[in-house]
Amino acid sequence: MKKLSAALLLLSTAVFAQPYDNSLTEEAIKARLAPVGSVYLAGAATEVAAPTGPRSGEQVYQAACFACHGTGALGAPKTTADWEARLAKGRDVLIEHAINGFNAMPPRGTCMDCSDDEIAAAIDFMTAK
Ligand code: HEC
Repeated sequence: MKKLSAALLLLSTAVFAQPYDNSLTEEAIKARLAPVGSVYLAGAATEVAAPTGPRSGEQVYQAACFACHGTGALGAPKTTADWEARLAKGRDVLIEHAINGFNAMPPRGTCMDCSDDEIAAAIDFMTAK
C-alpha cells in the first residue's frame, strides 16, 4: 500500500509539473516530437568545447566498452589472461571483430560514432591493462 501511494504521488506530481499541451499548432506538435534530451544537449553544446581530435583508447573504453569488458558481462573478456587467449588470434582479427561484431560482442561495442582508429585504440588500452 505504501508503494502504491508513493507511485500515485509521483504520478500526480509528474502530471501537474508538466501540464500537457493539448493544442495542435505546428509548434506544439514539433515540440512534442522533438527527441528527448535535445533541449539539454542544445544547452550543453555551448558549454562543452568541441572535440579537438580522436578520443583516446581509455576514453572510448570508459564510455563504451567498460559496461561489458570491465565487468565480464555476457562473457566479455576482462582479465589479462582472457585477453592473452584472444590476442593469439592477432590484433587485426580482434579489431575486425570489434568493428563488425562477434557473437554477443555488438558491432563497435555499440559506439556507433567511434572511428575504426578509436576502436583499435580502445582494444590496445584493454589488452595492455
Ligand atoms: C554489450 C556488451 C559489450 C560491449 C559494450 C562491448 N563488448 Fe566487446 N565483447 C563482448 C562479448 C560478450 C565478447 C565475447 C564474444 C565471444 O567471444 O563470443 C566480446 C569480445 C570482444 C573482443 C574479442 C573478439 C574476439 O575475436 O575474440 C574485442 C576485441 C572486443 N570485444 C572489443 C570491444 C570494444 C573495443 C568495445 C568498446 C568500443 C567493446 N568490445 C564493447 C561484449 C561487449
